[in-house]
Amino acid sequence: MEKILQGNAITLGVCYYPEHWDESLWKDDLARMRARGIRVIRIAEFAWNKFEPTEGRFTFDFFDRFMEAAREADMAVIFCTPTATPPAWLTNQYPEVLNAGKDGVKLRHGARRHYNYNSPVYRRFTARIVEKIAGHYGKHPNVIGWQIDNELNCERDEFYSKSDTTAFREFLKEKYATLDALNAAWGTVFWNQTYTAWAEIYVPRTVISDSVNPHQVMDYIRFVSHSARSYAKLQSDIIRKYLKKGDFITTNGLFANLDNHKLRAESLDFITYDSYPNFAYCLDNQNSAAPGLKDRNWSRKLAETRSVSAKFGIMEQQSGANGWNTRMEAPAPKPGQMTLWAMQSIAHGADFISFFRWRTCAMGTEMYWHGILDYSNHDNRRLAELGEIHQKIERLASAAGGTYEAAFAVLKDYDNVWDAKLDKWHERIERASEAGIFEAAQLCHSPMDYVYLTGSTSLDELQKYAALFYPHAVILTEERAALLERFVENGGTLVLGCRTGYKDLTGKCPMRKLPGLLRKLSGADVVDYTFISPDDGKIIVDWEGTEIEAAVFTDVLEALENTQVVGTYTNNYYAGKGAIIRGEYGKGSVYYFGAAFNRETAAVFLEKLKIAEPYRAIVEAPPSCELAVRRNKKGRFLFLLNYAKEPAVVTFKRKVWNLDTEQPVTGPVELPPYGTGVYRMPEPTPGISVSGEAHRPAG
Ligand code: GAL
Repeated sequence: MEKILQGNAITLGVCYYPEHWDESLWKDDLARMRARGIRVIRIAEFAWNKFEPTEGRFTFDFFDRFMEAAREADMAVIFCTPTATPPAWLTNQYPEVLNAGKDGVKLRHGARRHYNYNSPVYRRFTARIVEKIAGHYGKHPNVIGWQIDNELNCERDEFYSKSDTTAFREFLKEKYATLDALNAAWGTVFWNQTYTAWAEIYVPRTVISDSVNPHQVMDYIRFVSHSARSYAKLQSDIIRKYLKKGDFITTNGLFANLDNHKLRAESLDFITYDSYPNFAYCLDNQNSAAPGLKDRNWSRKLAETRSVSAKFGIMEQQSGANGWNTRMEAPAPKPGQMTLWAMQSIAHGADFISFFRWRTCAMGTEMYWHGILDYSNHDNRRLAELGEIHQKIERLASAAGGTYEAAFAVLKDYDNVWDAKLDKWHERIERASEAGIFEAAQLCHSPMDYVYLTGSTSLDELQKYAALFYPHAVILTEERAALLERFVENGGTLVLGCRTGYKDLTGKCPMRKLPGLLRKLSGADVVDYTFISPDDGKIIVDWEGTEIEAAVFTDVLEALENTQVVGTYTNNYYAGKGAIIRGEYGKGSVYYFGAAFNRETAAVFLEKLKIAEPYRAIVEAPPSCELAVRRNKKGRFLFLLNYAKEPAVVTFKRKVWNLDTEQPVTGPVELPPYGTGVYRMPEPTPGISVSGEAHRPAG
C-alpha cells in the first residue's frame, strides 16, 4: 500500500465520509480521486454509530463494505477513532460524560466535542470502541495509519465537569502532596482563598470579572493538557497492540492548552496539521496572530507544527470556502490559491497533503465548508486544480524529505505560552512580538523556526542556529537559564525582550532584581518599567544612529559590568536612558531590548545581526513572496510563493534549476497571481549563511 512521509515523494490524500453518501457513489468517488492523484483517504472520525448503533451492539458491516471498495480501488486508508462525537444513546444514558461550562451547565448532544476527558465512564466507552475498531481493522491491508479522535482541544479547550474537578484534585495532590504547599504555590493568602481541605478545591468556577486566582488557572491549564494527553495515550496504547508493521498513529491539529510536544512523544509517530489559511478572509473571525500577512500567517502555524514534529503531514488542507451555517464565512479560494496553500504546507516540510474534503456536505452545520466538489458532484475548477497539483507534486519528488532551513529561531516554552493566555500584561507583549518577528522574517526572506524549550531540549538543538530570539521569557527556570548561558558561551547570539524573568513557575513574582535569572547573562539591569500609554505616542530608540520603535512596553535599562548601552530612548520621561544593552559572554553575545518587537524593529534586529535575507546572493524576491528552503541529500530547494493577486517578479542572480519546467533559469522570472515555483540551488552555494553554518553576526 501507498506509504506516506517516507522521504521520497509527496503524497496527496483527501478526507472522505462514506457515511454521508449513498453507497452507490463510493466506487465512482474513489475512481475519480485516483484519477486526480489522491492515494490516501481519511475516514470514520465522526462515525461511532456506524460501529455501535446501540450500547454494546457492535457491527462492522458498513465499514467492511467500504473497505472492500477501498481495496478494489487500491486506496490507502487512515482510519480514525470516532470519539470526538459520542452517540446520543451514550450521552443520554450517562450525562456525566458531558463537558460543562464554568457555571457547571452541561454541554448537550447536538454538535461535537461535547465530552470530557476525565469521565471514567467515557474513558471506559472509549477504550472499548477503540479496542473493537483497531482490533477489526488493524491488520486490514489498506489501512496505513490511525488518527486518534479529531482535533483534541478544538472548539473547547476548557473542561468543567464534575469528573474534571475530581481529577484536578488528584493532579494537585500528586503535584503538591500537602495543602500547605498548594496554598503557598497559589498565593491563597491573597483575598483569603486559603484551602483547608482538598474537597474545597475546584476547577475554575464563575467568579467576579472572570478573574480566578492566576496561579490556580496556570495549574488548571497544565491539568487540561495532562488530561488531553492521557486521553490520547489511552487510545494510542490500545491501537499500538493492533498496529501493522510500518503503520503509524497520529492526530490532527495544534490546539491550545495542550503540550503538543509531550502529546507527540507519548502517543504519536508524528503530528498532522489542519491548514485553513482562508480563516484570514473570514468575515467574523480573523483567527490570526499576524493579521497583516493574512493567509501567509499560516506559515507561522506550520513552523509551530514543525517544531512539534520535524516530520509532519497535513490531514486537512483547505480546498474550498469556509462556513458553518452559524459562523466563519470566508470566500472560495481564488483560482491558484488551493495550490498556493498546499505549496505553503510543502515548503514548510509537509510531504503529505490531504484535502478537506472530497465533496461538500449537503447537510448539517458544515454545509458551507466546501470541499473539492460541490453538492452537484459535477467536475468543477477545484477538481481541475487538484489535477494540476498532482502533476506539480510529481515533479517535486526530488525535494521531498529533508529539513526546512531556518536562518534563526524563536524560542518558546509552554509555561510562557500559557501564562500569556491568562495574563493580559504578558499577552500584549507576546502577541506584538510574535507577529512582529514572524512578519519581519517573512518580509526579509529570512526563514525562521520555533524551538520549544522542553525538559529535553539539548544544546545541540539550539546550536543549529546562529541566533535565537526569546522575546519575553517572563517565566524562567534555572535549567533554561543555564542552557541559554551555554548557548551564548559557545558562540551563539541571544536576543531578549522586555519583561524577561519576573515570574517563577507558579506565575508569582519573586523579590529579585530584573531580569531575574538572566541578569548575569544579559548584563542588563532593569531600573524602571512601564506600559506605553496611548498618550505617549511612539517611543523611539536611537540604536547607534538607527531609529527603531519600542512597542507596547518599556524596561528602562542600565548596563552592568562588561556590557554596553547601545540604544537609548529618545522620548518620554526616560529619554536618554538605556533601551538596548549588548554584552559579550564567552564566545557569543546577548542583546536585551527593553520593549516588544514590532515588524520594523524586528527587521532592524535581523539586519544588524546579519540574518536578514540569507539567500540574497541567489535570489531577489519582492515582499509579497515568501521564500522557504528545504534541504535533503539531493540538494537545497528554494520555494517561492506569491501570495498576491498580482504577478510578482523574482530575480535569480545565479543559475538555478526549475523543478516545474525541468529547465535551468537565471534572471527575472514572473510568478503569476498566487503562483509558486520550486528551484534547486547550485551546490555549493557560497555566501549563504543559515542555520548550522559558520555565520556570526558582526559588531
Ligand atoms: C476542522 C475539523 C473538520 C471540519 C473542518 C471544517 O477543524 O477537523 O472536522 O470541521 O474543520 O470546519
